[in-house]
Amino acid sequence: MTYARIIGTGSYLPEKVMTNEELATFVDTSDAWIRERSGIGQRHIAAEGETTVDLAEHASRRAIEAAGLQPEDIDLIVMATTTPDQVFPSSACLLQARLGNVGSPAFDIQAVCSGFVYALSVADQFVRNGSAKRALVIGAETFTRILNWEDRTTCVLFGDGAGAVVLEASEEQGILSTHLHADGRYSECLHVPPGVSQGYQAVLEGRAWVEMKGSEVFRMAVAKMGEVVEEALEANGLNREELDWLIPHQANIRIIKATARKLHMSMDKVVLTVEHHGNTSAASIPLALDAAVRDGRVQRGQLLMLEAFGGGFTWGSALLRY
Ligand code: UT7
Repeated sequence: MTYARIIGTGSYLPEKVMTNEELATFVDTSDAWIRERSGIGQRHIAAEGETTVDLAEHASRRAIEAAGLQPEDIDLIVMATTTPDQVFPSSACLLQARLGNVGSPAFDIQAVCSGFVYALSVADQFVRNGSAKRALVIGAETFTRILNWEDRTTCVLFGDGAGAVVLEASEEQGILSTHLHADGRYSECLHVPPGVSQGYQAVLEGRAWVEMKGSEVFRMAVAKMGEVVEEALEANGLNREELDWLIPHQANIRIIKATARKLHMSMDKVVLTVEHHGNTSAASIPLALDAAVRDGRVQRGQLLMLEAFGGGFTWGSALLRY
């Protein structure tokens, strides 16, 4: 049986850091409120002119290097982003031109904060059915570009960043399952209302901003993040005690803690990075994974549960043997 196995991880955060204190100098908020309600201490902000593909390129090169490969060894690029550089071509194509592995398929996935799990699931199918041997999967965002810096209910929560993994076809166990879900009836709970086909004006005027009904998103996120873990364990005949690490979407420490409580999982088994970069949407899971791989917490052979929830609503899991 062929599995898609992670053989390298990488991530990148822009240089500029904005602390809660700095944010509180121009938004009616405080370090205490942000930390208590979300667990966020700071976020990284892309420099002027620095784009999602720039961040993705750094993370990708690090992941490819960690895999011991060259960019030309990659035969599929799947990139999750909500904040692409251009309307078209896809950010994956722009990235491919920089990496130089031309000719192989490259495309974007749009599932907001669940984007990385969606992208991983798609790439997994390509690898398992023999269509790709080495896939680069990226989650990259410049989410701060779509924030209304006068709306304290959203702008304190998000940041920019990118994370990537290289998958390789292997007889050894890798991704064991992915489960994806969506419920489009909730689209207005978390969205950027303007877009291309509705008329471009708001986008051109820089008013294409995130709007969120925070407490509804919160409630649903806790419910669904718990459900997807149970769903994946049941599908694989595993117990939650067998999980070595839960690597959840990093949006809010209270959502993560509530999910862990529901699952009777100790927070010692949960990878947490939200304090350092806030909610980076599709980038958050590969950023957390890369941090835990590089600091030695995640070891070869361990069982990892990745799970996400985001706009759409979308949610999903990936269970894998690292
Ligand atoms: O990836 C998925 C994307 N999003 C999420 O996962 C976010 C999900 N939601 C959340 O994380 C939480 O709902 C928030 C962090 C957004 C808000 O936390 P909350 O505990 O649900 O607070 P709240 O919205 O009920 O607001 C409580 C109070 C309100 O004041 P009043 O009406 O009680 O007087 C808000 O106006 O806090 C006020 N408030 C703030 N105060 C200081 C809202 N934002 C801020 C702020 N600073 N930034």
